This record gives sequence, structure tokens and C-alpha cells, in this order.
Amino acid sequence: MTRVFSGVKPTGHLTLGNYLGAMRRWAEVDQHGSDALFCIVDLHALTVDHDPARVRRLSRQGATLLLASGLDPRLCTVFLQSHVDEHTRLSYLLECVATDGEMRRMIQYKEKAGRERERGGSVRLSLLTYPVLMAADILAYGADEVPVGDDQTQHVELARDLAVRFNHRYGHTFVVPKATPPQVAARVMNLQAPASKMGKSEDAGPGIVYLLDEPEVVRRKVMRAVTDSGSEVEYDREGRPGVANLLEILAACTGGNPESLSSVYHSYGALKKDTADAVVEVLRPVQARHRELCADPAYVEGVLREGAEKARAMARPIVDTAYRAIGLLPAHTDAHPEKPAVLNAAR
Ligand code: TYM
Repeated sequence: MTRVFSGVKPTGHLTLGNYLGAMRRWAEVDQHGSDALFCIVDLHALTVDHDPARVRRLSRQGATLLLASGLDPRLCTVFLQSHVDEHTRLSYLLECVATDGEMRRMIQYKEKAGRERERGGSVRLSLLTYPVLMAADILAYGADEVPVGDDQTQHVELARDLAVRFNHRYGHTFVVPKATPPQVAARVMNLQAPASKMGKSEDAGPGIVYLLDEPEVVRRKVMRAVTDSGSEVEYDREGRPGVANLLEILAACTGGNPESLSSVYHSYGALKKDTADAVVEVLRPVQARHRELCADPAYVEGVLREGAEKARAMARPIVDTAYRAIGLLPAHTDAHPEKPAVLNAAR
């Protein structure tokens, strides 16, 4: 069975971009018919200036929203990254396989570090090594597929490179994963600045639709979206990014195709109105379920506790194999007599 792993980091309130680019498919497709794990990657939230109380709050809210979006703990494993030590154990080994040049070439590092330096701040070392921890998140579970939005494909490529390199040097240990971005809405853009991604870590703004925005707030944000000069509704991502973004959002929400939808509309106003309605309808059940789950925090905590136990049991033998393969002596013998298939070929 295909193993799937993906995650979301609690650096801000989850957005429509997170939902359409990743979370919705996790619930609708990935948890059915594959062995899937979904994670709030809380350690990644510590790579930038952070407020501990806010990270705790956002981690709880993120986990609740994963369940509200339809993830079912009977079908998949939902947990918090920091509850499973194997992520950081493996990350160090992968740091011994990755190079500093690879890290410095990462687009997200360059952008985020650049912004931090412009503000006169210092850049945490963990921001540089972040993609290695992300590779460890994926490789620790032997994931075949990583359903992510467009912005994460470079990181998944790195995970592939590190898996191949490790296997080549130390014997076959890791499954080589691949990114599986969605066909539509792989990169939802900021409604006020359609050249930039709709990102949760940015300052709250009128161009970002949050999953928990009230319907009237969603409508206002979509109706005020920046469109392009001209008045024809055309799907042209380069020339008309604002309109193309609305068409993609509408297509993702209604199961349509942005190109064919463009011929249906003759005014920006009508396109915006239908897009706003479609987004409100997509978010309605998620928000309703979120309200129910908020009334039952013990249930969410139970899911996370059990999820971490399941995840640990999957990751530990793979990470132990990597420790042995790279040259470290086992802490105790006979730790995992029931080795999974992937281990059999390991030296
Ligand atoms: P994060 O938390 O930024 O985003 C979570 C997921 O949402 C997708 N996404 C988007 N998709 C389309 N349009 C957007 N505007 C948009 N914004 C976000 C992201 O592509 C992602 O799939 N590094 C990762 C978290 C991570 C991870 C992992 C993911 C850590 N370890 C292992 C997969 C596997 C991140 O920052 O995602």
C-alpha cells in the first residue's frame, strides 16, 4: 500500500491556500486507499521568531482543523511532530549527508532569511537546516508520496536527493519519495498581491482568507480582490494573475477547470461573487465541525496521543536502521525483531 506523509506548520492561522493546496486532498483522497500520516509540524514553527504560547495555541487549533477538514483517525494517523522523537533523531543523520550549499540554495531560506536581515534581525540556524528536518519527517516513515502545494516541491526534491545519497553510501534504507501537487490551486495567491503566495505566516491582511473567517469576511476579501486592468475574464497566469487566481480558486472549490470557467464570465464582478459564494460553501462544513471539536478538546488530545504512538511505531525501526547503516552501534540488541520489508535490504 502506498504510504503518504504530509504536514502543516503552526506559524499562523491556516488559510484557504493550505486547504485547497493540501489539506482537502488529504481528507478526500489520500486517507482513503493509502497508509497516510498527517502531522502538525510544530518544531518547524521554532525556526523563526516565535511566541511559545502562540505556537501552543496554533498547534492545537491546527490539529483541530485537520480533523475538522475530514481527516478520520480510523483511516489515517494524525499527530504532532514533537511527540515523536524519531524526526529529530533522523534529522541529525541527514545533516551528515546534506551539504551547506544545498541548504543555502533553498528558495524559502533565501526569501525568509533575506526578509529577516532586512528587518535587522538575526537568522536562526534552524531556518537553514529546516529542509533537512522536513526530509527526516518524510523519510522516517518510508513515505512514497508527499501531497503538498507547489511551494514545497523543492523541499521534497531535497528529501529525494538525501534518500538516494544515503542509500548509495550506506545501503538501501529509505524509500525515495515524490511530491504530488494538486492539479488546480497548487499555489493560491494573495488576493491583494497576486504575485505572492497566500501565506499564513505573513501579517494578517485583506488578501488572505483564513479557514475560520466568518462568511461575510470571506465575501468582503474576495469581492475586494485585486484584479487586472482590462475587463475581460481570461485565464492567463502571467498576464492576468489576479483574475487567474480567482478562476483557480473557483475551479478548486467547484471541481471545475479554470480555463473553461473563464469563458462563462463576462465581468469581474460576477466572477468575484461566484468565487466568494463557492469559498463560503467549501468552508462552511469545516467551520461547523471545528466548532463541535472545540467543545471536545479531550477527543482531539486522545487522537493526537494515539496518533503519536502509531507514528512512533512506524518510524522507530526505519530510523534505527539508518543509525546502524551509518555506523552507529545499537543501544541494545534485538530491538526490533519484526523488521519491516524496507529494512531487510539494509546493511
Ligand atoms: P506550510 O505549513 O507552509 O503549508 C502546508 C501545506 O499547504 C500548502 N500551501 C499552499 N498550497 C497552495 N497555495 C498556497 N498559497 C499554499 N500555502 C501553503 C503547502 O504547500 C503545504 O503542502 N515545510 C512545510 C511543512 C512540512 C512538511 C513536512 C510538508 C514540514 N515537514 C513534510 C510535507 C512533508 C510547510 O511549511 O508547509
